[in-house]
Amino acid sequence: FTLPAVKNEEMRDYAPGSVDRRKLQEALAEMREQLLKEGPFKVPVIVNGEHITTDSVNTQALPFEHRTTLASFHETDASTLRKAIDLALKVKPEWEAMPFNDRAAIFLKAADLLANKYRYKLMAATMLGQGKNAWQAEIDAAAELCDFWRFNCHFAAQIYADQPVKNSATTWNRMEYRPLEGFVVAYSPFNFTAIGGNLVSAPALMGNVVLWKPSPMAMYSNYLVYEILREAGLPDGVIQFVPGNAEFIAKEAFSHPEFAGLHFTGSTAVFKHLWKQISNNIDVYKSYPRIVGETGGKNMHFLHKSADVRSAALQTIRGAFEYNGQKCSATSRVYVPDNLWDEFRNILVDETKALKMGPVDDFTNFVTSVINEHSFNKITSYLNDIKSGSDPKTKILVGGNSSSTEGYYIEPTVIVTENPHAVTMKQELFGPVVTVYVYPADKFEETLELAETTTPYALTAALFAQDREAIVTGSNALRHAAGNFYINDKSTGAVVGQQPFGGGRASGTNDKAGSGLNLLRWVSPRVIKETF
Ligand code: SER
Repeated sequence: FTLPAVKNEEMRDYAPGSVDRRKLQEALAEMREQLLKEGPFKVPVIVNGEHITTDSVNTQALPFEHRTTLASFHETDASTLRKAIDLALKVKPEWEAMPFNDRAAIFLKAADLLANKYRYKLMAATMLGQGKNAWQAEIDAAAELCDFWRFNCHFAAQIYADQPVKNSATTWNRMEYRPLEGFVVAYSPFNFTAIGGNLVSAPALMGNVVLWKPSPMAMYSNYLVYEILREAGLPDGVIQFVPGNAEFIAKEAFSHPEFAGLHFTGSTAVFKHLWKQISNNIDVYKSYPRIVGETGGKNMHFLHKSADVRSAALQTIRGAFEYNGQKCSATSRVYVPDNLWDEFRNILVDETKALKMGPVDDFTNFVTSVINEHSFNKITSYLNDIKSGSDPKTKILVGGNSSSTEGYYIEPTVIVTENPHAVTMKQELFGPVVTVYVYPADKFEETLELAETTTPYALTAALFAQDREAIVTGSNALRHAAGNFYINDKSTGAVVGQQPFGGGRASGTNDKAGSGLNLLRWVSPRVIKETF
């Protein structure tokens, strides 16, 4: 058995009149019809394959049409969670003893099932539940998830094959890549269906058992991902699907002696909070837990005076407004030299105004709504502050209107400031808002230094310049300001296997999702020396 050669899942274009577009529209219509006829999709807690309905029920709404409920889901209670942990630990010996090729076959099959059988359904669930347009859903729930599953197998095979040890005349040495002892907990976010799939699959592929706490705002798509893994042959108990209250799950799972690791994507504040809870329990654990997290960002586009201004402006629109600015990599602050400002501003204003906003079912809409009321209130309060003149140096250039009557709609908004420390240059809003600071073109190096130190984050950054010397200077000055650094391209859109993803500082532990570096966090190697 050798693994198939790995390559990125080919992206489909959903062009008007194409078969793909028709099939996706049919999947959306079918989902809508089922909702009307039978009500919200029911999502259980799943422990060892058993579907469990608890007394606590919560719901997931369509963000752009919030009176419609997509799914109602059961939340794990204490006894179910304990049972999930006990049973996962029971199946673990058999799972970790399964030959790697057999484990890999499950994830490879899941990728093929997704690509060929469930593509449109998972995309429709991601579009309706998380408010992605068709292309953003294709990037996420089709291409990226297939890529995570396939590339993880490819990188794991390399790890298992690699023996970084030498023998001597009388000894035979080898490295055994054991999984961690105990269980791993995964907390996944709303903004990428694929991330949930990866957070659970990466540790599981390496022989671990995992408790999965999906985001309430991505519940239905994440449940479908789980079902795909089951159809592909994932045995009972290897991944336990345990939706529920984040705090409650943390309290139960992180006080267990067999807690072995956290695989997290979400906000910086929640990650720090969970880390502190884990630290408080450090004496309880059998092993030091692995903590892997990808958190917030305040990602910049930095233009040098030699930049191709049109390209930089168009990339800024994509980086800032694709998926309504709700990517952790989204462009949210821009540094523009004054020699380029007029042209940059004109393109930004015209193109931002031209973006169509509305429900995902209409494929001409580029932006939809933000994810929920909490997010809507947070972002609009920043915008209202600016409108009320809280910072006289900061103004809204385009957009800024919002309405939550039907869905949580916020117009794509460009803010311009003369204050490089303006609130929206520093804080992560997680919405369709970008702030531009215009700097004197001859102050390139000083402004790079300013940009480097403005926020605690270091996720992604992009530098736009034609001048080679400026590219070198900028790359060096921003060396620690991002884990993913782009030259003449937007700050979003890392592709699995091409740009392994993750940042440092307050943006995460930088363990590079979709790479061997991440997989290595889920093993505890044993070195064996045999003398003869
Ligand atoms: N990987 C995504 C991107 O690069 C964000 O999670 O945009």
